Amino acid sequence: MKSKKVGLAPLAGVSDLSFRRLAFEGGADFAVTEMVSAKGLYYGSGKTQDLMATHPEEGDLSLQLFGHEPEILAKVVEDQVNPREDFVAVDLNMGCPAPKIVKNGEGSALMKDSLLAGRVMRAMVRASNKPVTLKFRLGWDKDHINYLEIGRIAQEEGIASLTLHARTREAMYSGKADWEAIRKLKDHVKIPVIGNGDVDSPEAAKAMLEVTACDGIAIGRGAMGHPFLFRQIKEYFEKGTYRVMTYDRVLELVRRHYDLEIRERGERGALLIMRTQLPCYIEGFFGAAKVRKEVNGAGTREEVFDILSAYGDRLSSLSKDLVQR
Ligand SMILES: Cc1cc2nc3c(=O)[nH]c(=O)nc-3n(C[C@H](O)[C@H](O)[C@H](O)COP(=O)(O)O)c2cc1C
Repeated sequence: MKSKKVGLAPLAGVSDLSFRRLAFEGGADFAVTEMVSAKGLYYGSGKTQDLMATHPEEGDLSLQLFGHEPEILAKVVEDQVNPREDFVAVDLNMGCPAPKIVKNGEGSALMKDSLLAGRVMRAMVRASNKPVTLKFRLGWDKDHINYLEIGRIAQEEGIASLTLHARTREAMYSGKADWEAIRKLKDHVKIPVIGNGDVDSPEAAKAMLEVTACDGIAIGRGAMGHPFLFRQIKEYFEKGTYRVMTYDRVLELVRRHYDLEIRERGERGALLIMRTQLPCYIEGFFGAAKVRKEVNGAGTREEVFDILSAYGDRLSSLSKDLVQR
């Protein structure tokens, strides 16, 4: 199991360069950017380009693009991705379920048109000087499950590896991911298959490998507030045990995350993004829901950490067991 790669799945609004740095420091073997609009890049949108910012200390990083026009994707890859040495690969998003994306025939909607999906992949592979990878779902809904067909087309078109989020678009993020489907895909294609969906602990990572025999694991929600999960998984694979996190260590990570965000976004931007991520860091600790509300009312970095430190003191005065999870 040691050789399996475990990394950070693309997460819009989360897998920015600050969080990716934490994930790499926390043991991730790879990471993927937030999804980036090919059209936005094509028309030179500055905001879209900001999503392509990277840091030299990141590890193997893929840029994820979404779009549906083969010519636009090819042009963007050629002009804006090929010159970038900070990306080891370019990933095509065929899984996003968001209405504003699928209404344009992009994200998971591209799976409904396998011919066009094939043309998009071919155009990207032809244009790219790096491996092109694909992230997709089982299909549009339970009556249109076509991941095996898309996987085969991807292989024929020269896609280097597949990441399957084993749910339909209809399921969004609900229910359980169908790991058996990942196994079937693995049996169906020769290119590497990265499993994705519902891995949120070392035990779950092991179970996914056992069920699917996949070549690697991409972790999304499970890494939010837990960028050290990658190291815990590796420890578990190597030794059969792993170190749990203490509240103090979590607080240290929040501090680092916050400070990295301040560098990128300034005080206000960092406060706004940390409000969305903080609940994930403290989730699972006793009484975290109340603290979350308190943090939402905080207006500065100092206030946030006053609240979090006081909470840590309360936890340790209640019981030693409460400061770890
Ligand atoms: C907040 C959020 C943002 C996401 N953004 C993206 C994205 O930009 N591109 C993508 O391919 N998938 C995206 N996903 C899907 C995840 O990469 C992943 O496939 C999904 O959450 C299932 O894996 P998990 O159970 O490990 O979270 C997103 C998911 C969440 C919860």
